[in-house]
Amino acid sequence: MDVFLTGATGYIGEAVAELLVARGHTVVGLTRDPRSSRASALEDAGVRVVAGDVGDPGSYRARLAAAEVVIHTVADGRRPVESDEQLFAELLALRAAGRAPHLVYTTGCSVYGAHCHPLLDESTPTDPDHPRARLEAQLATSRLAHTIVRPALVFGGHGRSSLLGRWLDEARDGVAVFYGDARKVWSWVHVDDLARGYAAIVERLAELDGEAFLLADDAPVAALETYEACQRAFGRTGPVTHAPISEEAPVYQVFDRHEIVDSRKAQRLLGWTPRATSVMELVAALPGRTATHPEL
Ligand SMILES: NC(=O)c1ccc[n+]([C@@H]2O[C@H](COP(=O)([O-])OP(=O)(O)OC[C@H]3O[C@@H](n4cnc5c(N)ncnc54)[C@H](OP(=O)(O)O)[C@@H]3O)[C@@H](O)[C@H]2O)c1
Repeated sequence: MDVFLTGATGYIGEAVAELLVARGHTVVGLTRDPRSSRASALEDAGVRVVAGDVGDPGSYRARLAAAEVVIHTVADGRRPVESDEQLFAELLALRAAGRAPHLVYTTGCSVYGAHCHPLLDESTPTDPDHPRARLEAQLATSRLAHTIVRPALVFGGHGRSSLLGRWLDEARDGVAVFYGDARKVWSWVHVDDLARGYAAIVERLAELDGEAFLLADDAPVAALETYEACQRAFGRTGPVTHAPISEEAPVYQVFDRHEIVDSRKAQRLLGWTPRATSVMELVAALPGRTATHPEL
């Protein structure tokens, strides 16, 4: 498949790009800075890196037209809703011209908002007030060929953009502050398993128009337990201070509730099974390593 990938230098995008190339797909990856070391590493892995900004459709329009699949993994920090709406508009214009690639659209469990559901699956109602849920709803009525990916919290690999990476950095630096509800339980997905989920979608597109997939492993765990394990990984055995969720980074405030994900739909329709180590196994294997954590 000819794939155009936004966010190719990102945590998820890099893993997806490298796996798709290894599986024989052609990947053109978008970045704002094609001279970065991450962009060079992608080029070395066989990805064609191109310059552009999702907030500037003219910078990537021709790439959309040339692609069979567009995988979108950018969350534009400045104008997240407008940039995605511009992408949809570009794809709709292509559709009107008789040619539109299939969009694999990344959101996340934030689409369920702050509501506490005992278990999340694709039939769980999303929060109509959440901007990303509204973008998903726009797609559903747009007649664009699309598939939605909602990853659980991602860990593994280099851990950049992973909450686990931040927690380990905090433990290394002697910070021990846990935010919000100490009883919340979260599902996680290893970045390599997640990349295999995207690959499975790309390779079954014809059957998946309009579908959404929640991708998580089968090892949900109390967030506080994981936080404390991160502390222990750096030999910190002192008490953890608890702080209100209002003091947490805004992006994580919506997750101050259970996020236990049922991925049986992905297992059934994609033949996807998580294979990687669980988050707790990974953290438990860290002691004895250096203060830089090569595998998060
Ligand atoms: N990480 C998680 O635990 C997690 C969990 C669930 C869902 N998600 C979702 O998955 C998606 C990807 O997450 P991630 O963790 O891989 O993010 P990330 O590591 O922050 O990477 C995103 C990439 O997007 C690119 N980017 C940002 N703004 C851009 C713009 N205006 N134009 C073009 N490129 C732009 C950046 O590349 P350049 O700087 O090279 O341009 C960056 O490398 C996001 O939608 C996120 O909300 C993430």
